[in-house]
Amino acid sequence: MSTLKESFKTMIPDVLMLLVSIVGSLLLLVFSPLLHLMNAFRNKSFPTPKVIVITGVTCGIGRSLALKYADNGVVLALIGRSMDKLNELKADCQRKAPNCQVTLAQIDVSHRDKLKKFLSEFDAQHSVDLVIANAGISDATLSKEMSYEEKAYEIINTNVNGAMNTLLPLLPSFRKRRHGQIVLIGSLSPFLSMMYPTYSASKAAVNSYALTLRHELKPYGIGVTMVAPGFVFTHMTDVLGATKLPMAVSSEYAAQTIHDGVSQNRAFIGFSTGTMLTTWFASIIPPDFRDSIYPIMMRLVDTPSDSIVYTNEKEQLKNSTDKDRQLKLFSSSQATVEQVTNSKKIQ
Ligand SMILES: NC(=O)c1ccc[n+]([C@@H]2O[C@H](COP(=O)([O-])OP(=O)(O)OC[C@H]3O[C@@H](n4cnc5c(N)ncnc54)[C@H](OP(=O)(O)O)[C@@H]3O)[C@@H](O)[C@H]2O)c1
Repeated sequence: MSTLKESFKTMIPDVLMLLVSIVGSLLLLVFSPLLHLMNAFRNKSFPTPKVIVITGVTCGIGRSLALKYADNGVVLALIGRSMDKLNELKADCQRKAPNCQVTLAQIDVSHRDKLKKFLSEFDAQHSVDLVIANAGISDATLSKEMSYEEKAYEIINTNVNGAMNTLLPLLPSFRKRRHGQIVLIGSLSPFLSMMYPTYSASKAAVNSYALTLRHELKPYGIGVTMVAPGFVFTHMTDVLGATKLPMAVSSEYAAQTIHDGVSQNRAFIGFSTGTMLTTWFASIIPPDFRDSIYPIMMRLVDTPSDSIVYTNEKEQLKNSTDKDRQLKLFSSSQATVEQVTNSKKIQ
C-alpha cells in the first residue's frame, strides 16, 4: 500500500509538467497572431542568395539542395567526399543552368583545417551569402565493422564538429559584412529521443546550436535557420532496412521546403507536417511516461528490433561465452521479449 502511495507521489512532477504544457500552449495560442505580427516587422528579409556553400552533396538531401539552388548567375561551392559524384553533380547543375558557376571541394567536413582553408579562400573570392551544413551520418550509414564506441565518436565528429567546421570560418566575414544566412540540418529525432542515442544527441546539439545562434547573430544582420527533417527517402533511411517509414518525403520535397523556408528567413523548418506534429507531441511527454508509451510507438517505425547500432556487438555475441554480457546486450538494446527469452535460453 505504501509503495503504491510512493509511486503516486512520483507522478506529481509528471502531471505538473503536463499541466504547464496545457496552460502554456493556451497562452501562446491566444497571443500567436500578435507574435506573428511582431516577427513580420522585426525579422530581416534577405535577397535571393547568389553565392552558396553546401556540404554533403554527393547524395540525398544535399544533392537535391544543390540542384534546387543551381541557377544562372549563381556561384555554388559543393563539398563532398567522392570526386566522381561531385563531378556528376556539377554536370547536372550546369545542365539545368549553363551559367551556374560550380566550385567543387573534395573535403571531409570533420577535417577542420582543410575545410577552413577552402571556405576562407572561397569567401574572399566570392563573398558567401548562404551556407548549408548538411553533411551527416547515422549509426546505420557507418560500416558494420565499426564498434559501438567508434561509431559514437564518428557521429559526433561529423554531425556536430562537421557543422561547426562549416560555419565558424565564415562567421567573421558575415559579421563584418552584416550579411549572410546559415542553415543547419538537424532533425526531428531529438524531439522523440526514442532510438539511436548518439545520432539523436548529435542532432539535438545541432538543433539547439542553430536556435541559440540565431539570437546571438541577429544583431549582426545574420540569419540562422534550423532545419528538422522527419523521414526522408535517402541512403540514410535505405540502410535502416525498414519496411515502414511513417510520413516519409522525397529529397526533392525536402529541398523545396528548405529553399522556401530559408528564403523567408524562418527560425525553424520542420517536415513532413505529420511527423513534425507527432514528434512535437512526443517532446511534451514526461520522460517517465515514455517508458510505457514508446514500445507502442516503436511499432510504427519498423526498424529491425535490436537496432542497427548493435549489429557489430551481435556478431561478437555469437562467439561470446559470457552469458551475462549477452543478456545485458540484448536488454539494453531495443530487444524484443522473444530475443531476451532466447538469450536466456543460452544460459
Ligand atoms: N534522411 C532522413 O530521414 C533524415 C532525417 C533527419 C535528418 N537528416 C539529416 O539530413 C542530412 C542529409 O542526410 P541524407 O538523408 O541526405 O543522407 P545521405 O543520403 O546519407 O547523405 C549524406 C551526405 O553527407 C555526406 N557526408 C557524410 N559524412 C561526411 C563527411 N564527413 N564529410 C563530407 N560529407 C559527408 C555523404 O557523403 P558520402 O557519400 O561521402 O558518404 C552524403 O553526401 C544529414 O545531416 C542527416 O542527418 C536526414
